[in-house]
Amino acid sequence: MVKPDGVQRNLIGDIVARFEQKGFKLVGAKLMTISADLAETHYSEHKERPFFGELVEFITSGPVFAMVWEGENVVASARTMMGKTNPSEALPGTIRGDYGISVGKNIIHGSDSLESASREIGLFFDEKELNSYEKQT
Ligand code: CMP
Repeated sequence: MVKPDGVQRNLIGDIVARFEQKGFKLVGAKLMTISADLAETHYSEHKERPFFGELVEFITSGPVFAMVWEGENVVASARTMMGKTNPSEALPGTIRGDYGISVGKNIIHGSDSLESASREIGLFFDEKELNSYEKQT
């Protein structure tokens, strides 16, 4: 998911291009504004963290671009492509390393496991919004 800072900075196209060029298949995508309820559910594992309020406020502050990508090891690969959560530790060449400065406004969120991907896809997308098709390589 491209976060509100990534959308504001016109990075949707670049981020989509990186995943397309890597070879992954886009099966769902939409621009949406997250409600406080959805933000709190999505980030519930961080509920006790001191930055939780800030996190919810930021992610609901403007539209995000939610995406579902398919492909071999896509969850792990996406994490490599995004770089470390804290952009100051993310390597150049990664999305956060190239574009981010702050740990709060770090451009992109990605699921950290298959289980969380499945949970998060369920929170953000209806089944009919996910496309099943053969990708020509
Ligand atoms: P994300 O992958 O969206 O998952 C949880 C988010 O919490 C994380 O990216 C960061 O943007 C955010 N986060 C982590 N640590 C802090 C912090 N110390 N202050 C503010 N936000 C943080």
